[in-house]
Amino acid sequence: EKGGYDHFMLKEIAEQPRAVADTLLGRVDANGMLTLDEVRIAASVLREVDKVVVVGCGTAFHAAMVAKYAVEHWTGLPCETELASEFRYRDPILDGRTLVIAISQSGETMDTLMALRHAREQGAKVLAICNTNGSTIPRESDAVLYTHAGPEVAVASTKAFLTQLVACYLVALYLGQVRGSARGDEVRDAVGELAGISGAVQEVLATMEPVRELARSLADRNTVLFLGRHVGYPVALEGALKLKELAYMHAEGFAAGELKHGPIALVEDGTPVVVVVPPAREQAVLHGKVVSNIQEVRARGARTVVIAEEGDEEVVPYADHLVRVPRTPTLLQPLVTTVPLQVFACELATARGNEVDQPRNLAKSVTVE
Ligand code: F6R
Repeated sequence: EKGGYDHFMLKEIAEQPRAVADTLLGRVDANGMLTLDEVRIAASVLREVDKVVVVGCGTAFHAAMVAKYAVEHWTGLPCETELASEFRYRDPILDGRTLVIAISQSGETMDTLMALRHAREQGAKVLAICNTNGSTIPRESDAVLYTHAGPEVAVASTKAFLTQLVACYLVALYLGQVRGSARGDEVRDAVGELAGISGAVQEVLATMEPVRELARSLADRNTVLFLGRHVGYPVALEGALKLKELAYMHAEGFAAGELKHGPIALVEDGTPVVVVVPPAREQAVLHGKVVSNIQEVRARGARTVVIAEEGDEEVVPYADHLVRVPRTPTLLQPLVTTVPLQVFACELATARGNEVDQPRNLAKSVTVE
């Protein structure tokens, strides 16, 4: 049932091109516009929305963080992201014009369920992004957009995450389309880019041997740091989370701009620092700042692992290890930059003799608060 792979996680990583493509299936019309008929919230209600809040836990929370950039970009609406477990313990300002998006692979995570119940009590509309048909979270939501990752068995989320990202982009674009804040050609272009992602993920998967080798060489390290900016920041957090849960290593993700506000003190001789680099073409300023960060950590002895798009030559002199990803628009880049981090964590876990599919102390679905 592992289809020839040693672990479900490896199988599920390999299934990502298919999972990403399937999550787009039936959601694009002949004109390249979105038809999310399944989102049973009336267009008139979506047009009245004045704020979006995205909640989730763990990996789903990282998808939520990416969603914020997409929602703000394509809808112009204020968007907040919050850990589901924190959300209802403050006094979130919600009303009938708030759209809450609850992201969950299992559809059974208690923290996320309690957050959406709280939101609905305040009159907010709740849209679930979920991978499990008929589970509790979609049943209790006003509408659901299913991710089509297929069953995810490994405890560490991989293909579900990529499909959650796709679903977030679709929802943000659809909101933009319905509200008129995203132009038709913008929607079509973005949908076209999304359609190309499956192939891009396949390309990344085909070049992972050096990443595995690198992972094996780091098996006796204690700490790995991850840096990113913009949508690369949640990717850094996701890379660190994967490493914690699978390799049981001290791993931390930071927004690269925070480096000089504290975290750079952690860098010692030989500390691996993984850096997710934004595309220079679209993010010239951020790109320059991240390249400086790579130089800064390297000057303090870090062993730099640089994840950068094809054609980015500026990073080359400062990369002890360079991982190339295909060119994508900035917003979609997490779909390709996350993949090497999954492979990295899986291989490190294996090298350290850990149980990849069933990490210690963790359960696939957390049905208690
Ligand atoms: C990480 C992981 C967890 C889940 C989190 C939410 O690899 O699997 O962090 O992402 O427990 O679970 P769902 O998405 O089922 O609500």
